[in-house]
Amino acid sequence: MREAGRIVAVVLLELEYQIRPGTTTADLDAMAERAALALGATPAFKGYLGYPASLCASINDEIVHGIPSPRRVLKEGDVVSLDFGVHYKGFVGDSAITVGVGEISSDAQKLLRVTRESLYAGIERAREGNHLSDVSHAIQLHAEKNGFSVVRQYVGHGVGRKMHEEPQVPNFGPAHQGPILRHGMTFAIEPMLNTGSEETQVRPDNWTVVTKDGGLSAHFEHTIAITEGEPLILTLP
Ligand code: MF3
Ligand code: CO
Repeated sequence: MREAGRIVAVVLLELEYQIRPGTTTADLDAMAERAALALGATPAFKGYLGYPASLCASINDEIVHGIPSPRRVLKEGDVVSLDFGVHYKGFVGDSAITVGVGEISSDAQKLLRVTRESLYAGIERAREGNHLSDVSHAIQLHAEKNGFSVVRQYVGHGVGRKMHEEPQVPNFGPAHQGPILRHGMTFAIEPMLNTGSEETQVRPDNWTVVTKDGGLSAHFEHTIAITEGEPLILTLP
């Protein structure tokens, strides 16, 4: 899983480097697919429940599952979430980052920073002996303390030989609930934070999830492993 995770991380780094005003999300999708294949991995999203691309690229008020298109041209001030996963040697890596295009507003910068911090606040609680919802609770606390709302409709998940395994990993809820974490368990933790309300809707393409009120949204995700000590982040380069 670390090898799968490393491939995902390297691809996301490369995409981040390629982002500038004028890049289309179809360009990013093509780069992601090419890079993964060159590294011996298979994109995990393509064909999953009929999803038509290798990458999810979600701009501004789009929360997750944005379908790449040559008509979606990134412009200065946009924020774009890139979610990517691969299969490699029988295992899955799954990770997401949100990136600013050129100069972004200070509100957008804060949203990106707090969403990444919320992910790390959750990871910090991903320790043997804790309850699963300790992770969820830590994410919600950090997000709301900083004035952002947490999306309820979409959650993290177990991950391993398949992309989506049990259990679900919500980004909200009370502490000390649900299964007790044991070493060897692996999860994708993926908070989605909004500047406005947490409410979501799905565009007519049946994939793209957007904020109901048009507010900005950010998404960060890592695949992690529970150990006998520190949590292990598997989707690092
Ligand atoms: N990272 C997303 C997830 O964990 C990716 C799924 S998109 C899909 O659910 F197209 F593959 F469904
Ligand atoms: Co995921």
